[in-house]
Amino acid sequence: MQTSRVDVDLGSRSYPVLIGSELVGGVGEMLREHGLKQTNAFVVTNPQVGALYFLALEKALAAAGFTRVVRHEIPASEEGKNWDEFSAVCAALLGNFPDTGAVPLVILLGGGVVGDLGGFAAGVFRRGVPFVQMPTTLLAAVDSSVGGKVAVNFGGVKNIMGIFNQPRLVVCDLALLRTLAAREVRSGASEIIKYGAVCSPRLFQQLEEGGLERLLALEPETLTDIVAHCVRLKARVVEQDEFDKKGIRNVLNFGHTIGHALELSADYALTHGEAIAIGMIAATHLAQALGKCPAGFAVRLRDLILRAGLPVNFAAEPGLFDRVIRALQMDKKFREGRNVFVLPTSVGAWEQAENVDWTLVHEAVRAVLV
Ligand SMILES: NC(=O)c1ccc[n+]([C@@H]2O[C@H](COP(=O)([O-])OP(=O)(O)OC[C@H]3O[C@@H](n4cnc5c(N)ncnc54)[C@H](O)[C@@H]3O)[C@@H](O)[C@H]2O)c1
Ligand SMILES: [Zn+2]
Repeated sequence: MQTSRVDVDLGSRSYPVLIGSELVGGVGEMLREHGLKQTNAFVVTNPQVGALYFLALEKALAAAGFTRVVRHEIPASEEGKNWDEFSAVCAALLGNFPDTGAVPLVILLGGGVVGDLGGFAAGVFRRGVPFVQMPTTLLAAVDSSVGGKVAVNFGGVKNIMGIFNQPRLVVCDLALLRTLAAREVRSGASEIIKYGAVCSPRLFQQLEEGGLERLLALEPETLTDIVAHCVRLKARVVEQDEFDKKGIRNVLNFGHTIGHALELSADYALTHGEAIAIGMIAATHLAQALGKCPAGFAVRLRDLILRAGLPVNFAAEPGLFDRVIRALQMDKKFREGRNVFVLPTSVGAWEQAENVDWTLVHEAVRAVLV
């Protein structure tokens, strides 16, 4: 199958996203073709992904003239996306490459946790060294590997310590997704449903018309087509609002405000995508309460989320509601107590609402805690 290329056009920080299958073996050559001339590489991965794919990557790098490839692993879950692990990556970078003459190319082989943490470390080591994203989860392929938001969780707040740091290249080898747990595939599908719901009626309809099931089965043509579509949607949003200053990038936060708060409060019992699925239901509830969204949208969204095997609610264990509300109030998009929500208005369209009555927000949270 042919490799698709989506360009993220950000002036001097532009880069291509290459999407295809069986790309790892040729990755060294790809780096060279894209002007990356380093001979040292620092690969951030985790034990699970490293065990599956590091050796193949190392071989491909050696074949393209890399003489030193350092492997650094971080824990394989969201709990590993913390300051201590970030600090350990920085220490390993400095320990292995103390000399300015031997700056490594940082390669992030993994899901969003590896990409977010590693991209942050690459951005601060020597005030920034080049890095490449090699997403290995569906979620990282369609979302976190593109756009340059890199961060770690801190003080109980998700992604609160971070920077904008664009990769030099994204190599998205969809063959790597075959070893993903089904739950992680569903989690990635959640972000894809998000893109359809607020950015693209065509994608939403494609998912409704059987694309979703073909995607979940990792059917190669559908997978490549949908991943490339999502990356194009994300690229267009990021190009208009790289630094998240104009409100345009907020569209990508549909489902993420209540979703993030729930993800943290549920003590990581939910994957990111599962939390976002519930967050999309809650945000839609809020949009309906504000009279901004027709009931038909809510029905279609709920159907698609259920068909993807994703949750639409979560068990209301004692104290959870209060923890979600507290986490919500810490949201970094909120200014001086004024909340901000992305509300769907019809398939492929959205509106931002600020300072929504907290009683309605509480109701929307209660609606998804059963
Ligand atoms: N930077 C952004 O713009 C952005 C956007 C969306 C999400 N995120 C972040 O991404 C993170 C979630 O990323 P994720 O869902 O990729 O989770 P993840 O990185 O934790 O990976 C999920 C699990 O899948 C395993 N895994 C990864 N690739 C595999 C493979 N090919 N085969 C077998 N197992 C594999 C991992 O070891 C892990 O256990 C969150 O921290 C979220 O905040 C960031
Ligand atoms: Zn997300």
